[in-house]
Order: sequence, then C-alpha cells, then structure tokens
Amino acid sequence: MSGSLIFEDSEKLSPRYVPKVLPHREEQLSLLHSLYKSVLENPKEAYMRVCQLVGPVGTGKTCTALRFGETVEEEAERKGFKVKHVYLNCKLEGAKRFILYRSMLNKIAPGTATRSLSPEEMLTRLVQYLEENDEYILITVDEISYFLKSSKEHLIYDLTRINELTLGRPCRVLGVVFIARSLSFHKMLEESERSTLGKIIIDFPRYSGEQIKDILRLRVEEAFKPGRIDDEVLTYVSDVTAMPPINGDLRVGLDLLLYAGILAEREGYDRVLLDHVRRVHGETYPGITSEDILYMDPDERLILWGLVRALRVNKTAYVSLKDIRTEYWVICEEQNVEPVEEIEGYVQDLIYRGIVDMKSLTEFGIMGVSTEDLERFLDMIVEKLKRGVNEFREETESMG
Ligand SMILES: Nc1ncnc2c1ncn2[C@@H]1O[C@H](COP(=O)(O)OP(=O)(O)O)[C@@H](O)[C@H]1O
Ligand SMILES: [Mg+2]
Repeated sequence: MSGSLIFEDSEKLSPRYVPKVLPHREEQLSLLHSLYKSVLENPKEAYMRVCQLVGPVGTGKTCTALRFGETVEEEAERKGFKVKHVYLNCKLEGAKRFILYRSMLNKIAPGTATRSLSPEEMLTRLVQYLEENDEYILITVDEISYFLKSSKEHLIYDLTRINELTLGRPCRVLGVVFIARSLSFHKMLEESERSTLGKIIIDFPRYSGEQIKDILRLRVEEAFKPGRIDDEVLTYVSDVTAMPPINGDLRVGLDLLLYAGILAEREGYDRVLLDHVRRVHGETYPGITSEDILYMDPDERLILWGLVRALRVNKTAYVSLKDIRTEYWVICEEQNVEPVEEIEGYVQDLIYRGIVDMKSLTEFGIMGVSTEDLERFLDMIVEKLKRGVNEFREETESMG
C-alpha cells in the first residue's frame, strides 16, 4: 500500500492474515494447549486427541486453530521433532474425501499424490510418508457441517481412525481438530462416527461489544496509519458489529473498517469519518464478506458476479438461471476467461454456502436481500468481487 494516506498495510484486515495476538481467546488457546500437552511431551507414546471447536460465525475459531497449529509446530521444533499442522477447509476446498485427502497429502508430501489413488490409499500413503520421514501431523478440519451437508462420505470416521493403519506403532497423527458453527452436525452422524468424535468441545462464545473493540483496536493499529481511525469511529464499528443483525461476526467488523478506509481514501480524506463507516455499513449487510469471496472458486466467483449483474440489469430481487448465464458470459469475455459449460452445480454450491437464495426453480437471488436494498449494496459486492478476482490473479501470476 505505498502512497496510501490511510492505510499502513490493508492486508492486515484481510481474512488471510492471522494476528500473533488473539485477545479474548486466551482461554480457548490454553485449553487446546493443555489438551495436547502430553502428546507434545511424548509423541511416540501418545494417543490421538480429537476435539471440536464450536461457536457462531466470526468468533475466531479458524484463526485460533491456525495460531494453535503454528505454536505446536514451533514447540515441536524446540523439542527436537517435527510436527506439521494441516488445515483443511471443507467449504473452501470442496466436500469430497478425494479432494481433501489429496490436498492433505500434497501439503505433507508434495508430489506423492496421483490421480489414480483412492481416498483410502492416500491415507495409507500419508501414514507411510510420516513413518519414513519420522514426522507427525496435527489435522484441523474446518467447516465440517458443510461437508456433511453435501456428502455422505465418512470423513470423521476416517480421520479419527487413521492410526489404526499403523497398529502397534507410534501414532503419527497427534490429533484432529474439527470446527463447526454449532453442534447440530452431530445429528447428521451415525452413532459409530459420533463416538469416534469424542466429547471434548471447546466453546467459542460470541464476542461482546467491548471485546470486539479490543480486538479491532489492535487490528487498526496494524492496518492503518496512526490517527486515521479515532475512538468514536472504532466504537461505532464495534457496536454495529456486536449488535443484530451482525451479532458479533468479526469478519464484518474488519470489512467495515477496510471498505470505510477505501472510501475515505477514494474521496481524498486523510482519516476515516463516521459518515464513511455509515455509508459502507448501509451497503454491507446482508453480509457476503470478503472472506466468502476471497476463498471462492474462481469460476464460482464469476458466476456470482453474473448473478449480481443480472439482478442489477433486471432491477429485481430474483432472476433466472438463463439471466445469470447471459451476464456471466459477458463477464468472462471482459475478464478474458473461458466460461464453464454448466453453471448449475456452482449455483447449487452458492446455495449451500448460504449466499444465493433459490425462491423457485426459476428465481435466484442473494440471500436476505430485498428489492429495496438491492441497489445499495450491489456496488459493494461488485467491489469485493473485483478485489477477489484481482487478488486471485495476482496469486496465480506470482505462482508463475
Ligand atoms: N481474538 C481475535 N483477535 C484478532 N482477530 C480476530 C480474533 N477473533 C477473530 N479475529 C478475526 O476475525 C475474523 C473472523 O475470525 P475467524 O477465525 O475466521 O472466525 P470463525 O472461524 O469463528 O468464523 C478473522 O479475520 C480473524 O482474524
Ligand atoms: Mg472459520
């Protein structure tokens, strides 16, 4: 962000960034540490620990798991053995064992996953690799409900029993951490699977307004130049984030700060005014957050963009698949990408994600948006989609 009047580093507000310090999650982190303490003291003798992180959206489950994984890796290194933390996100990577295990294998042992391996073979290969290289892993499976909603495969059962592949030898998988928004996913499990899951649940309660303010203050210090966000603005953002309809979803609070900053900058201000936040706020809810868009499949992102455009062109709250397809093709042409043949599967996935609302077989809209609200925030979504598309492009380009 060179030359910005407002931002020191706007990446620090991005969902990809995991801050070193996570205020008000000390207790959850310390529970995790005590749960894995003995495992880290003596990994050779340890048995696998399974736990669940459960709490509403935006309560810091993912960032806590990522921070914990990193500390485990560091601690193991200090103790002279190797642990890798593998983070899998069912919403992001797909709800198929084949895809998740391949991704896991690629992260642990790059180059060993081939298309011809079955999911079971991939797990065997994973354990083999760990044995041969004297390594251990900790697995985190995020958004597990999303997997269970769209697949009948027994992911939990598989992962919690990997160690049975090496009966009698040290267990290479030190633990599996499952993350969900509520305990309702238990209902989707068979009895045997529920029992392998165990009963250790770490609760992530909603943040209060005060807690949100503490957290956002630190993020503001990292992301903005000094004095760009005064206390009044910070209090306003924190209150709005804590209250319904946002109900403490920190992702929305961070987005409010980011887009208010962008707006202030665009209008030539050297600090963010309450008015900037108010205007952005009017356009942000119902939230499709930057996180949703950043981690979306690139084709899916363009299809969502097609839907948003079709809504705007038709000035209605619902459009047909045909309308979406038409706009999607135009966008693909503008963006110079090859359109996918079938958009239905992607639209279905957007419905699973709670982003697209299907009123009938021929009526698709954005979840929670009425016709009156439509104009107000379609712009904001387009802004986010553009950022998402551009960031993705930068990533692929830097990969070569
Ligand atoms: N205690 C915290 N300190 C700093 N940032 C936090 C904290 N809790 C959440 N966040 C930030 O808020 C956003 C949402 O958190 P996340 O871990 O993704 O929530 P969840 O997984 O529970 O939906 C992320 O960008 C994360 O970095
Ligand atoms: Mg999460």
